[in-house]
Amino acid sequence: MRTTFLLFVSAILLCQSCTQQPMPEASYDIIPLPKEVTLNEKRPFVLQSNTVVYYEEGLQREAQFLSEYVDDILSFKMACQPLQGKEKNGIVLQLAPAEFGFDEAYEITITPKQVTIKGADAAGVFYGIQTLRKSLPITNSQLPTPNCQLPTAVIRDWSEFGYRGMHLDPCRHFMDLDSVKIYIDMLAMHNMNQFHFHLTEDQGWRIEIKKYPELTQVGAYRKGTVIGHNSPLYDTVRHGGFYTQDELRDLVQYAAERHINIIPEIDLPGHMQAALATYPKLGCTGGPYEVWRRWGVSEDVLCAGNEEAMQFVEDVLNEVMDVFPSEYIHIGGDECPKTRWMKCPKCQAKIKELGIKGDERFSKEDYLQSYVMNCMAKVVEARGRRVIGWDEILEGNVSETAIIMSWRGTQGGIEAARKGHDVIMAPSSHLYFDYYQSDDIFNEPPCIGGYLPVERVYEFQPLPAELTLAEQKHIIGVQANIWTEYIASFQHVQYMAMPRMDALAELQWNNPEQRDFQAFVERCRKMTQLYDLYHYNYAKHIFDPHPKTDTVVSNLATHKPLTLRFQPAEKYTFEGAAQLNDGKLGRGLYNSGRWLGFQGDPLDAVIDLEQPETLSHVRFHALVDKPSWIYNPSEVKVLVSDDGKRYRRVGQQEIMISTWADRDGIFSYELEFEPVVARYVEVVINGHELPKDHDGHGHPAWIFVDEIELF
Ligand code: ACM
Ligand code: ZN
Repeated sequence: MRTTFLLFVSAILLCQSCTQQPMPEASYDIIPLPKEVTLNEKRPFVLQSNTVVYYEEGLQREAQFLSEYVDDILSFKMACQPLQGKEKNGIVLQLAPAEFGFDEAYEITITPKQVTIKGADAAGVFYGIQTLRKSLPITNSQLPTPNCQLPTAVIRDWSEFGYRGMHLDPCRHFMDLDSVKIYIDMLAMHNMNQFHFHLTEDQGWRIEIKKYPELTQVGAYRKGTVIGHNSPLYDTVRHGGFYTQDELRDLVQYAAERHINIIPEIDLPGHMQAALATYPKLGCTGGPYEVWRRWGVSEDVLCAGNEEAMQFVEDVLNEVMDVFPSEYIHIGGDECPKTRWMKCPKCQAKIKELGIKGDERFSKEDYLQSYVMNCMAKVVEARGRRVIGWDEILEGNVSETAIIMSWRGTQGGIEAARKGHDVIMAPSSHLYFDYYQSDDIFNEPPCIGGYLPVERVYEFQPLPAELTLAEQKHIIGVQANIWTEYIASFQHVQYMAMPRMDALAELQWNNPEQRDFQAFVERCRKMTQLYDLYHYNYAKHIFDPHPKTDTVVSNLATHKPLTLRFQPAEKYTFEGAAQLNDGKLGRGLYNSGRWLGFQGDPLDAVIDLEQPETLSHVRFHALVDKPSWIYNPSEVKVLVSDDGKRYRRVGQQEIMISTWADRDGIFSYELEFEPVVARYVEVVINGHELPKDHDGHGHPAWIFVDEIELF
């Protein structure tokens, strides 16, 4: 009786105290995780509407950012005032270059009375502000949060890499200026300092060039776009857009305020079809060309033997450098087929004139490309800038001063660092954010392919172990790329970017010892509150409490001895024949390890049921991914035997070939036949030929099959 009464009293007391909301509290578990956080036991600092931001000279814009961020999150706007000397009860922003060993470093000291953010430079102060911003509690309340507490602490933080970048391709699909500004905001939130802006492509030219105004009248628009992955079908929707030089200057300023440099890319001598469509005389054949409606790598490239084409690129680069003050100018150099150059009299004459010879490593046309790239590097360097090129520029004799962006894996970067080039690591294996982020691909928006979940991004090691410490110093940074062939909207860009860019931010900022994926996921969860607040779209796979698990089946065939008369392709054998009746249905991409792949040969499986069984159905599952040359089967046959030697056919069915109008995906096929009693069952699944309207016409289509069921 007495116990009950006490409980009752304490319940009343608890309820009284819970009428008063606890003051929301900041947490320094953010992305990227700060290097050193030393919490202490003192009373917290209370951030409230009358808190003032005091800024040292040169930090006014930083103070305004802090005030704006707090307003976004807590719905009150702090006043900003120049620092006079001994202000208390405020947030003080200061420069203290002598106290830090690195650029962009900062220290935040939170005492009960004051918060001080000291930076090695204004960028350091800005990152301190980003840290404070990301630490703030988000209450989801529409009402102003009257105040919040910041636990007393000292946070010391600096970045591992000086180059922390993200790339965006507004050429395949145009992204308007407001969207690009939001992209820059996203970079700033993740402590990134380089925005690689890919401005020219086969499918659209996006930067106004005063000397060549037709580039943005003609080259910025295509008449339509191929449907799907280079199917024979096109839409007829005119697509395009461009940025004026004034708009780009404004964008440069917008980014600079956020301590982000914009690196413009003029991709040459390949990926130039939009320019050729505008000025056909700049190509080897003279055209006609169209602003490309397909994806991939166009064989029509700038004519390297045409002085006018070289002058054109030089003029373009000079205007680009007038607009962008960036030290780094990206001149592309990737994916330049040499088919036209090999046949072009002008290109061949140029090769002769220059005395270029091929050797066992590279063709004379490869060296011609080096010549073009090196000429343009000189144009850039004459203005005190440095060129960046994709790793293909290593093929030939690359300019010694070029910075290599390693995208085809890390090998190009490794080779370049050994030769003394500075390197930016952006390998497609880990940092191409246009790849799928889940293997449940048929529930994902359409995508270029590949599979790159957040976990894989997070495990990337930017400093290859095979390099010496001195060589590793040439790895100046890390970058992820977002190509937009299959990304038509900015919301979709955001979905592809986050949370993979959170993982990237930690690779760029932190040292590898600080990595802990589970803790990272929890920090990501907090970041998503900010994304929600700013209406940023993002992918949620890593938060899924019920990750997709295997569909398990059990039938007469499950786990029985199964042999194949023809082996699958070596690359697509994975765990071998037993995978076909392991009771787990195939899922994901064709290369997920869950499908056996055959091209030309049929899948011809013999299953020993180990005793006579009655059966009347075979069911199997196959994947269709037409752009990857994978079609549905053409035919299934079922044969049975009592002794495993002599077989008799009990069922057969032909299957119509999938067309471009049919969706790709995973399909189940079932064949019913008169019930039979047998011990051995042979299932033969044949493939189609690739049809006339497929790029691979004339070759056998692949079939990818998993799980053969008998019942
Ligand atoms: C590239 O992805 N072609 C650089
Ligand atoms: Zn040519």
